[in-house]
Amino acid sequence: MEFDFTGKTVMMTGAASGMALLSAQEFAKLGANVAMVDIDKEAVEEKAAEIEKDFPGHVLAIECDVRSYQQVEAAVTAAYDKFHSIDVMLNLAGGAEYRMLHVDYNIEFPDCPIEVFDWSLDVNLKGQFYFDHAVMKVMREQKSGVIINIGSITGEEGCASNVAYSTAKSAAMNGLTKSLALYGAKYGIRVVCVAPGPVLTRPGMAGMKTALGRAAEPQELVDAFIFLASEHSAFTTGVNFLIDGGRNILRNKE
Ligand SMILES: NC(=O)c1ccc[n+]([C@@H]2O[C@H](COP(=O)([O-])OP(=O)(O)OC[C@H]3O[C@@H](n4cnc5c(N)ncnc54)[C@H](O)[C@@H]3O)[C@@H](O)[C@H]2O)c1
Repeated sequence: MEFDFTGKTVMMTGAASGMALLSAQEFAKLGANVAMVDIDKEAVEEKAAEIEKDFPGHVLAIECDVRSYQQVEAAVTAAYDKFHSIDVMLNLAGGAEYRMLHVDYNIEFPDCPIEVFDWSLDVNLKGQFYFDHAVMKVMREQKSGVIINIGSITGEEGCASNVAYSTAKSAAMNGLTKSLALYGAKYGIRVVCVAPGPVLTRPGMAGMKTALGRAAEPQELVDAFIFLASEHSAFTTGVNFLIDGGRNILRNKE
C-alpha cells in the first residue's frame, strides 16, 4: 500500500510534541504541507523549523489555544491562506487534566476545583469541536476532507480521577464524530475518531496493562492516522477506532 499526500495540507493540533509532532514529520515525508498548531509558541516554532529544513515552504507553525474559537478560526485562515487547502484535520491537542495541570491523583472528584474540569472539557472536547467547525467551512467549499478526532481508552473504560477527560474522550467524541460524518458525507468529507490505549509519548504509559503486554509506539498510531487520512480509507467514516493493544478486552486491568 502506498501513501502520497503531495499537494495536500494536513493540519494538526498539539504539534509541539508527541503523536502530533510525529504526524507532522511523517506527513511531510509523504509530500504534504503541514500546518502545526500548538499553544506553546516557542516549541512549535522550533519543531516546525526542524521539519522546514528538509521541506522548505511546506511547513507552517501556528500559535493557538484551542480553547479560543477566535484563535481557532485565525489558525484555519492562516493555514488556508498559505497552502490554499486543508485536506486533513488531526485533533491531537489535549490530555488528562490531573496530569496536564499537575493535580494530586488522590484528590477525589467532588473535592477537585471545577476549573480543572473546565480546562479539560474546553481543551479535550470544545477544542476539537471548534476546529471541526472552523475547518468544515473550508472542506465544504473544497467538497473534500478528512477529520480525525481523538478519543481515549480512558473514555471507554472510565477513570475516577480524570472524570472530565473521560467524559470528553468517549461518548462526546463519538457523538461529534458520527454527527459530523452524517453532515459531511454529502460534501465528500469523512470524519473518524481514534481512541488510543497507552502510547509511549512518555515513559509512564508503559505501566498501563494491555492484552498485548505493551504500550504502543507513537509510530503505530501515526500509521493509523495516515491510513485513515488516505484514499485507502475512502469508504470509512463515522466510526471510532479503539487502538489499544486489547486493553478493552482485559478483565483485570490492574
Ligand atoms: N499518550 C497516550 O497514551 C494517549 C492515550 C490516549 C489518548 N491520547 C490523546 O492523544 C493526544 C496526543 O497525545 P500525546 O501524548 O501525543 O500528546 P502530548 O502530551 O505529547 O502533547 C499534547 C500537546 O497539546 C498541546 N496543548 C495543550 N493544551 C493546548 C491548548 N489549549 N491549545 C493548543 N495546544 C495545546 C501541548 O502544548 C502539547 O504540545 C491527546 O489528546 C491525548 O489525550 C494520548
